[in-house]
Amino acid sequence: MSRTLVKDALHATAPMDAILLQGWVRTRRDSKTFSFIELNDGSSLKGIQVIADSSLPDYVNITKANTGASIEVHGRLVESKGSGQKWEVAAQRFTILGEADATYPLQKKGHTLEFLREIAHLRPRSNLFGAVFRVRSRLAYAIHQFFQERGFHYVHTPIITASDCEGAGELFRVSTLDPANPPRTEQGAVDFAKDFFGKQSYLTVSGQLEAEIFATALSNVYTFGPTFRAENSNTSRHASEFWMIEPEIAFCDLQGNMSLAEEFVKHLIRDAKEHCAGDLEFFAKFVDKDLLARLDFVLERPFQRCSYTEAIDILTRSGRKWEHPVSWGDNLQSEHERFLAEEHFKCPVTVYNYPRSLKPFYMRVNEDGKTVCAMDLLVPGIGEIIGGSQREERLDVLKENLAAHHLSEKDYWWYLDLRRYGTVPHSGFGLGFERMLMFVTGVANIRDVIPFARTPGTAEF
Ligand code: 4AD
Ligand code: MG
Repeated sequence: MSRTLVKDALHATAPMDAILLQGWVRTRRDSKTFSFIELNDGSSLKGIQVIADSSLPDYVNITKANTGASIEVHGRLVESKGSGQKWEVAAQRFTILGEADATYPLQKKGHTLEFLREIAHLRPRSNLFGAVFRVRSRLAYAIHQFFQERGFHYVHTPIITASDCEGAGELFRVSTLDPANPPRTEQGAVDFAKDFFGKQSYLTVSGQLEAEIFATALSNVYTFGPTFRAENSNTSRHASEFWMIEPEIAFCDLQGNMSLAEEFVKHLIRDAKEHCAGDLEFFAKFVDKDLLARLDFVLERPFQRCSYTEAIDILTRSGRKWEHPVSWGDNLQSEHERFLAEEHFKCPVTVYNYPRSLKPFYMRVNEDGKTVCAMDLLVPGIGEIIGGSQREERLDVLKENLAAHHLSEKDYWWYLDLRRYGTVPHSGFGLGFERMLMFVTGVANIRDVIPFARTPGTAEF
């Protein structure tokens, strides 16, 4: 007999004479003649109630069906007499597959998120994390669907690379040299020519440069994979390993890029509302009571657009006392980004045309010579969730940019070739998958939307 998932049992349209369920005991309540077990198998937030009659042959074992134990139940799906559920299972036979004793750490509700992070191997069995990781899985699917339906091709960019796309120097080195005794050059420096790849190599911070190669061949492409940043910022929005989605579009300018970003973010919200309704209601009840209203609000309105120069103007005229005072040429800090999205525009806003000096070498220089075709999408509650740009497609300007960033043409020979041969205007952006999940679930810490968080000082599991 094949297994029925709890989710499908709960959505049954008629009683069933024979059903097999497998899962984990969430709670058990015993009365004189019955035991009530709440069984959850992760297929949905809701578990199903199993009623075991004391006349069952295995009933002596029922006391082993403790919270956390895995069990298998054969029985009948019958209409529930209790309130709150339509169906329940009248057990005819049950087997304890794996016991769990009183040391099982998820005994009762109300654990702190910090404690649950320490038991990241068990937290997916809790209501909150079950919901988070179902939404994560669904949105990963929706991402592919969004791009595939629009004719984008999925490109697998390398995880190990020799180039620092963002130029921020936040790279994790990949090396097989013996750290205690590395080979040295005559000058005494570590001789990376003798390292595994014959040169210094790193974990990628972004697949963009390689995605550009494919956009100038397949026109519309996207990447979706892990990226790594050795950024020593211990915040609720930064992880050292995170997943990024990076579309790259040939024959597309910054305006088209902004429109695609807006359409993409709205698509993901709509998809979660449609396919993860129960989980989102749970977040709205226990995590962030304004969540559903905020998501609807975001769907209903066009995102705002505002140049960096206008943004600086808004911030300086706001009369606020900033922790980091801001003037033209400064990076926007989180407090500024959140003010713009939460208090000024009260809506997601795309800030564009940033000062050239703040941004990486690959962004297209505007006619003013001072700003570049950059864009950051800022959302309420989080700040930046997308960073993108129109790319510099002019060979001579790109060479100037490399020089200005002290990067060598020799290292970027292949990137320059894309401008030497059949160059086209092109644009793209990167969406931080975890930040998007924070936005959709209301979960406030990035450590709680990724299965196993890697942050400075932490790489358990
Ligand atoms: O703004 P970023 O650095 O842009 C790029 O990497 C470009 N190469 C993207 C492109 O144009 N193809 O990063 C893009 C997004 C950010 O907006 C943010 O959502 C996320 O990636 N991100 C992080 N998420 C979690 N932890 C970190 N340390 C992150 N750094 C960036
Ligand atoms: Mg950025």
